[in-house]
Amino acid sequence: MSFETVIVERQAAVGIIRLNRPKALNALSLQLVAELNQALDAFETDPEIGAVVLTGSDKAFAAGADIREMQPLSYVDLLADDFVAAWERLARMTKPVVAAVAGFALGGGCELALMCDIVIAADTAKFGQPEITLGLMPGAGGTQRLARAVGKAKTMDMVLTGRMIDAAEAERIGIVSRVVPSAELMETALAVATRIAALSQPSVRLAKEAVNRAFEGGLADGIRTERRLFQSLFATEDAREGMAAFTEKRVPHFRNR
Ligand code: CAA
Repeated sequence: MSFETVIVERQAAVGIIRLNRPKALNALSLQLVAELNQALDAFETDPEIGAVVLTGSDKAFAAGADIREMQPLSYVDLLADDFVAAWERLARMTKPVVAAVAGFALGGGCELALMCDIVIAADTAKFGQPEITLGLMPGAGGTQRLARAVGKAKTMDMVLTGRMIDAAEAERIGIVSRVVPSAELMETALAVATRIAALSQPSVRLAKEAVNRAFEGGLADGIRTERRLFQSLFATEDAREGMAAFTEKRVPHFRNR
């Protein structure tokens, strides 16, 4: 597959997608999102791939929706063509996605990071929901995912003022799992993704589904879903192998069965 706005690579069982519109700080144009989705589809259906790393450049993960493309659109245009709906492909991935964020992750860029399962940030990363400064508001899940990730106080602060926060604050409030020096960003993200890809894929998939359920519905529903998914893993050979390996003090050999 060859793309203009994303670069796709693989490293063993990890798929790597790099957003690549340097002149527009990786603003999320229709073309970029379409190409991102094709790359995600390809990795999702590739049995050799166990996890995906999504990244941008040193300067920008993504600076949000493409404002030039949005500028001429009317309310009725958006009712007829809900362009942001396509962005949800990332949130529907069943394979884990690790975001490696350096530079700006603003607006839709911050929202893309929030759709990923683990966010590793370079110390240069800056997160923000500046839509309010355009007379808009977040439109790709930002108000919902941010509120669930960091609570009301910080969400209101970011969404209503549009201020950017640095990597340290993003880690403190829970947008980011780890902050690393810029030069170690990809190495760290790849190590995390490689570790996940080496584990039993059925248990990774269901564990991700169970955690995501915590953000979708109420607590009782989430606990019930978690119990059902937990029980279903006892039907896999990998769970037998994993528990046997532990008691036998050896490394497990998972076969994704
Ligand atoms: N859309 C389109 N183009 C963008 C862009 C965006 N979101 N962000 C940056 N660019 C373009 C700039 O227009 C500029 O292009 P030209 O050289 O052709 O003028 C180029 O990228 C470099 O940008 P700057 O010169 O502005 O770079 P800077 O270092 O001075 O500032 C910045 C960087 C603070 C990120 C600034 O570019 C900025 O504020 N960008 C917009 C951020 C924003 O408001 N994002 C929210 C978009 S709305 C949204 O995302 C809706 C949603 O939730 C669905």
